[in-house]
Amino acid sequence: MSKKIILKNGKQVTLKRIRAKDYEEVMTFLDKFSRGKGAVWTHQYPNQPKKDKEKSIQHYESDDELYLGVWNEKEIIAEGSISLKKARDPWSVLQAAFGLCILEEYTSLGLGTHILKELEKWAVKQKVHRIFATVRHNNKRALGLYLKLGYQIEGTARETAFFDNQWQHEYYLGKILSYDKEKLKPE
Ligand SMILES: CC(C)(COP(=O)(O)OP(=O)(O)OC[C@H]1O[C@@H](n2cnc3c(N)ncnc32)[C@H](O)[C@@H]1OP(=O)(O)O)[C@@H](O)C(=O)NCCC(=O)NCCS
Repeated sequence: MSKKIILKNGKQVTLKRIRAKDYEEVMTFLDKFSRGKGAVWTHQYPNQPKKDKEKSIQHYESDDELYLGVWNEKEIIAEGSISLKKARDPWSVLQAAFGLCILEEYTSLGLGTHILKELEKWAVKQKVHRIFATVRHNNKRALGLYLKLGYQIEGTARETAFFDNQWQHEYYLGKILSYDKEKLKPE
């Protein structure tokens, strides 16, 4: 899968599934992202150790996960990922958690919208019922994006981080995906 995207500034970038061969490029991206302004909204942080190669590749190649990268020529400028949360019991529904990281200079250009829509398409194919993310309560861009795409604030975890001299709370944002649920109904 490879898709061309035109950003709001007219630049063309390419969205593709991240695979094992992309490991070093992803590490370069994460290092850059983790030193930038956007990192505080995520779990990336400056000077973090490089992620384990074998484990990373397992994630990239897993059928239960999708890692998408956006390339500007040879450089990765954004990453979006989604992972299935499967339960063994017969009544829990299939859920999926997602995350997005975009280099600061490429934010607010429509990229988050494109990536999240692709992650949702994959989730629908996997028959995911509920898709969700956690978002710090002051993360206006992320909230703007998720609310625009129909996510609802389902709850708040209080004081999960501290920066900018204040406690940061975390919202749970979720959306129920539509697909043919008739097949799931009990007889
Ligand atoms: C959050 C993030 C993924 C959003 O992606 P993006 O590409 O910047 O967002 P988009 O340009 O697609 O904009 C989507 C919507 O978000 C809102 N938005 C975007 N930029 C905004 C800003 N500066 N202020 C307020 N709302 C904003 C708007 O509602 C926008 O919709 P519109 O353009 O149709 O009006 C991206 O900014 C990012 O990676 N930030 C740093 C890391 C992060 O916060 N990750 C998410 C953790 S939950």
